[in-house]
Amino acid sequence: MATGSVATDRINRDKLAVVRRQEDAEFLRRTSKSATLCERARAHMPNGVPMTWMTGLYRTPPIYIDHGNGATFTDIDGNEYLDFNVCDLSMTVGFGNEIIAEAVARQARRGVHFLLPGEDAVVVSELLAERVGRPHWQVTLSATGANIEVMRVARFITGRHKMVIFAGHYHGHLDETLVRDEGGHSVADTAGLPPGSAAHTIVVPFNDLAALEKVLATGEVALVLTEPALTNCNVILPEPGFHAGVRELTRRYGTLLCLDEAHTFQFAYGGLVGAWQLASDFVVAGKGFGTGISLGVYGMTDEVAEIYTRHSDVDIGPRGIATGGTTFGTALALAAARAVLERVLTPAAYTHVRELGASLSDGLETEFAKRGLPWRAFRAGPRSGYCLFPELPRNGAEAALSLDVDLIDARRVYMANRGIWDSVMSAGPQAALAHTEEHIARYVHTAGQFLDAIL
Ligand SMILES: Cc1ncc(COP(=O)(O)O)c(C=O)c1O
Repeated sequence: MATGSVATDRINRDKLAVVRRQEDAEFLRRTSKSATLCERARAHMPNGVPMTWMTGLYRTPPIYIDHGNGATFTDIDGNEYLDFNVCDLSMTVGFGNEIIAEAVARQARRGVHFLLPGEDAVVVSELLAERVGRPHWQVTLSATGANIEVMRVARFITGRHKMVIFAGHYHGHLDETLVRDEGGHSVADTAGLPPGSAAHTIVVPFNDLAALEKVLATGEVALVLTEPALTNCNVILPEPGFHAGVRELTRRYGTLLCLDEAHTFQFAYGGLVGAWQLASDFVVAGKGFGTGISLGVYGMTDEVAEIYTRHSDVDIGPRGIATGGTTFGTALALAAARAVLERVLTPAAYTHVRELGASLSDGLETEFAKRGLPWRAFRAGPRSGYCLFPELPRNGAEAALSLDVDLIDARRVYMANRGIWDSVMSAGPQAALAHTEEHIARYVHTAGQFLDAIL
């Protein structure tokens, strides 16, 4: 793969700094009501937001939102944004989706939650079993929660502690995956984690079966946890044979395997697990399947479910595997989940977003080529992005080279000032259901204008 100096030397860093300064000033000029509300908000919320991550999405102060409609949302200053991040894939169905709004409103009137199941729960598990190919399902509040429970179940079944994740991973804000490799040792990657939080996690390069085998051969690993394609460090696609190899090695060394489809469930009907026919012991999905209504799920095989069922932790009696929570699996979340699976996430819907994703990637590559840039667009169904090199990355270390912070910061604010929202540094533009070819063309055109401004 090309080195940074070869593939990114066309970026004029002086121009980039000027663009950033000008665009930051313009952003502040356009968002004065948000700035006033932020001042008020800081009195009772750190950084003035209910979840502090919201301030990290851009370097500019947070904007406060009035409403959304389809593919766009509008802030309290009246600025409209065509959203290409779709809340990190938790709002892929579009803002104010009528089918979801109707299902949620109906269920809210009939009772949000009973701490007991209804028919919707049964239908959702049947639909997931049919689409994803894992026969048994449990519901959590989030994909993070699903991963936590999968880790617990895997540890119980295998009697082992360690787990493997791949560099470039993200599986939620859970202590044991907030880990990075530093010179062959796992270290905590964020603040506030207890000593030893990284002790049971081993980070291996993606697409490296030899490295994986070395770790699994110790016989200490309970679980390998990975996305089918890594989507949290730009996009890293599996090489041919990689997944078959992971499955074969995990079986050979008695390790369980979980495929985390928190993002990639939106990439293909039945997720990439369904589309690529991937075998695993667990599958995780979440983000309310793109409805924004909090819900995570995990699916498991007959063998896992048999043990899980016998060792569940119920209210009384001998303690089993701790899973669940009081607002997991509400009637409201399951009504939304049923509606989205039955009526929104149809095969035709996936075809639509795949075609839009191809237009987005083709469009970006055309813009790069027009300017003689040897760059590529990331491509994974509806997900695209900026690969600053002629070759796509094979692993996290290579993918990280395209995370040029100054470039991304300047691009985000430049595009926001032109009505395009493209947040989350390590993601990329994502085509979603409410987008049209016109929207894609607008994104691509604005990206081209930005390149002209900084080359
Ligand atoms: C692959 C993957 N797993 C898990 C999560 C965590 O999802 P949530 O924050 O909804 O729990 C994410 C979030 O981006 C993700 O990308």
